[in-house]
Amino acid sequence: MHNPATQGATISSQNLPIRRRDLVFDQQHIAFDRWHPEGNQTGHLFNGLSITFPKGERHFVHSVRHYMDRMQQEAPQLMEQIRGFMGQESIHGREHERWNQAMAAAGYPVATLERIVGKVLDGFVYKLPPVVQLANTAAAEHLTAIGAGLVLADPQVLAGVDPKAAAFWRWHAIEETEHKAVAYEVYRTVATRDLGPVGAYLVRVTTMLLASFLLNATGTVFQLVLVAHDHKLTDLSGWWRFLKVQFLRPGFAWRLLIPYLRYYLPGFHPWQHDNHALVEQWKQANEASASS
Ligand SMILES: [Fe+2]
Ligand SMILES: [Fe+2]
Repeated sequence: MHNPATQGATISSQNLPIRRRDLVFDQQHIAFDRWHPEGNQTGHLFNGLSITFPKGERHFVHSVRHYMDRMQQEAPQLMEQIRGFMGQESIHGREHERWNQAMAAAGYPVATLERIVGKVLDGFVYKLPPVVQLANTAAAEHLTAIGAGLVLADPQVLAGVDPKAAAFWRWHAIEETEHKAVAYEVYRTVATRDLGPVGAYLVRVTTMLLASFLLNATGTVFQLVLVAHDHKLTDLSGWWRFLKVQFLRPGFAWRLLIPYLRYYLPGFHPWQHDNHALVEQWKQANEASASS
């Protein structure tokens, strides 16, 4: 069942504990147009993503929960990780909900954008076959994991950011890293058996194209709507700074390209990129005093 090329990676991911941290962040007084020093165009990229998270992550949990009984039978060694993944995503949903409510209280059209997320999910994603929904979750988890990996690896991404906002996004980033392989493992277990190795690969990569389109399209539209709300659509210097963030420093677009493309390799596994040391660093800085 296991691809020998990824066997080691599988073992390493199973050794990393996935713990639900019931943290509550102080988000009520964040200035949503100014919390990122590179301007509201960059901040609203994050804000737009936040609006997609509560419903999106609920769908991720739903798509994995569908296979819980089967996983109990076919891969009981993964059950603890699956429960950890679900626990983490439920707290993410709650805290992003709070972030989004604070944005709504500041006057942003959050309810309208959340309705769009609901329409895409209810009208399309929830209607896909369960194995494709699971493939979509594995793909979306890779997209979040590579973004999270950059947040953790390069202090420049959140340099100068409102410390309350930085703490919130770093926490989400380390938990996305901890559970980055869970949906992938569930998908690999289920799809390899149901579709065969070639079918599982083809569904995985074509669904990644779909997930990439959905995330980029909603992310871009939401960013534009939020920037328009601030009357900054024609703020060329702000857009120039945003382009620099994307392509120069820290350079999201080009630095995420190769990690993104690795998902299309037949023997891909999320832990082939072993960045668990960054999780350990965060734990030492944030949990060492609490546990001692
Ligand atoms: Fe999450
Ligand atoms: Fe996740």
